[in-house]
Amino acid sequence: MVRVLTALSLVLLSLNSIEIAGKVVGAEKYSRHDFPADFVFGSGTSAYQVEGAANEDGRTPTIFDTFAHSATWLGGNGDVACDQYHKYKEDVQLMVDTGLDAYRFSISWARLIPNGRGPVNPKGLEYYNNLINELVKHGIQPHVTLLHIDLPQALEDEYGGFVNRRIVRDFKAYAEVCFQEFGDRVLHWTTMNEGNIFSVGGYDLGESPPQRCSFPFGLFRCERGNSTTEPYIAAHNILLAHASAAALYKKKYQPKQHGFIGFNLLSLMFLPATNSTADLSASQRANEFFIGWFMDPLVFGDYPEIMKRTAGNRIPKFTKVESRLVKGSFDFIGINHYATGYVQDNPSNLKREPRDFVADMAVKVMINAEDAPPDGFPVMPWGLQFTLEYFKQLYDNPPMYIHENGQRTDRNTTLIDTSRVEYMQVFIESLLDSVRNGSNARGYFSWSFLDVFEIMDGYRSSYGLYYVDLDDPNLTRYPKFSQHWYSAFLKGASIPSDDVIRLGKNSDTLSTVSF
Ligand SMILES: *[C@@H]1O[C@H](CO)[C@@H](O)[C@H](O)[C@H]1NC(C)=O
Ligand SMILES: *[C@@H]1O[C@H](CO)[C@@H](O)[C@H](O)[C@H]1NC(C)=O
Ligand SMILES: *[C@@H]1O[C@H](CO)[C@@H](O)[C@H](O)[C@H]1NC(C)=O
Ligand SMILES: *[C@@H]1O[C@H](CO)[C@@H](O)[C@H](O)[C@H]1NC(C)=O
Ligand SMILES: *[C@@H]1O[C@H](CO)[C@@H](O)[C@H](O)[C@H]1NC(C)=O
Repeated sequence: MVRVLTALSLVLLSLNSIEIAGKVVGAEKYSRHDFPADFVFGSGTSAYQVEGAANEDGRTPTIFDTFAHSATWLGGNGDVACDQYHKYKEDVQLMVDTGLDAYRFSISWARLIPNGRGPVNPKGLEYYNNLINELVKHGIQPHVTLLHIDLPQALEDEYGGFVNRRIVRDFKAYAEVCFQEFGDRVLHWTTMNEGNIFSVGGYDLGESPPQRCSFPFGLFRCERGNSTTEPYIAAHNILLAHASAAALYKKKYQPKQHGFIGFNLLSLMFLPATNSTADLSASQRANEFFIGWFMDPLVFGDYPEIMKRTAGNRIPKFTKVESRLVKGSFDFIGINHYATGYVQDNPSNLKREPRDFVADMAVKVMINAEDAPPDGFPVMPWGLQFTLEYFKQLYDNPPMYIHENGQRTDRNTTLIDTSRVEYMQVFIESLLDSVRNGSNARGYFSWSFLDVFEIMDGYRSSYGLYYVDLDDPNLTRYPKFSQHWYSAFLKGASIPSDDVIRLGKNSDTLSTVSF
């Protein structure tokens, strides 16, 4: 039997104008029919993490390839990954078996337009047309991200990628090829995945592609970069690139294709560690730095006051034209949500000179690991409600997609991934509570469909509904308990349900792989 889920607990938070009551649940039954009829349930991956065929058919290297092949990284690489490039038909069949409404994947810029600029690669075009057609043929909606970390290395080498304004023109040209070629079948476009984490991880901490940072900041010694300025510059150019592509889509393609375009952020929301005024305001500040950084420009046309005041001339200023371009340049916001952090005020950071983005936040972040399964995320479903309530109250309740949500486990453990099932069960219920309370959420995508190459720990961790046997040259996929659970939910079962759980535990397919 699945461990009885955490009993009712009540968390009351007061954050200036925001007041939220969240609860952990598990006793009440729900099914997908409790969600609005057009609510979309899917699962996702991204190009470099799943496709493989890294050196085939004209694809060129990206900053993700460079990172994965660097000497300091020992987590393997995406040269082969799950080989979805060759196995997409088989994978779409698994999506049909699972009952997905939608598949979230990303297009590899360097496969479609080698080196980032210039002629379209016919093989790349053919692959994405095949994948999209296969999905559409089976009634699965394609939800496409244009850039999920893997910027063509050629653009990074030529002018520094996102630290240079030139990226805006190249991104817009790439986006136009996608709208033109695939927009008759793709109705949901996300320009960038996790703009906030890409900027902090890639340009301040230097822990993720393109691994830029400067001493004494950064978790590693970076060969180039400037942690005091570049996270802000990269974010500014990301916003301009997004907004330019969105303006083009809205003007030229949306009227005839009738699709939607949005942006994606990681919503690591912050709650105060104590009820002290200092910690309450610290948590608010942390959310402004992580979410307001992008959402304030997207909704109001400028960065939050606190960021401008703290970062001074290190944060770029929007011209009037740019501000108008960025403001309102989205139809929906996608969030990737895994965990919630607690923060304490840390004013001494502001006395440091120079400061990076992290010091500017002036908080100490703690992830409350209580109740987390080994190597997994603490299960805090009220964090998702808090997130959706935050967007509802501060940003006028935009249409939202939960683009990623899922539990991390060690890869080689078991196919009976009970902790993932428990995690999804309470998060989807939390999402239902938010929808019932007026959130404009439109869809939920589990991360990930398959066990993919992960950005933080390669093939050591897994999030997938399917295990991929890397020791088998065929890279055979095996459904996990979570796949059975999600599939039953998608097909209308009531959750939690003993039937669903028995289905998982007794299923033959679950015992075919041993570790
Ligand atoms: C429900 O929505 C109202 C209005 O936005 C808000 O005040 C309340 O805190 C929300 N409740 C929960 C549980 O999020
Ligand atoms: C980062 O950029 C700022 C502003 O241009 C400059 O003052 C500082 O010296 C640079 N730091 C490094 C490490 O290059
Ligand atoms: C903050 O205050 C609320 C209401 O008094 C209480 O329930 C909660 O436990 C307090 N939180 C912390 C972290 O002390
Ligand atoms: C998983 O286990 C297999 C078989 O023991 C081994 O070959 C493989 O390297 C392991 N993978 C990871 C990521 O630990
Ligand atoms: C791999 O696939 C081939 C062709 O479908 C099949 O003949 C072979 O038995 C498979 N190997 C394994 C280890 O499953």
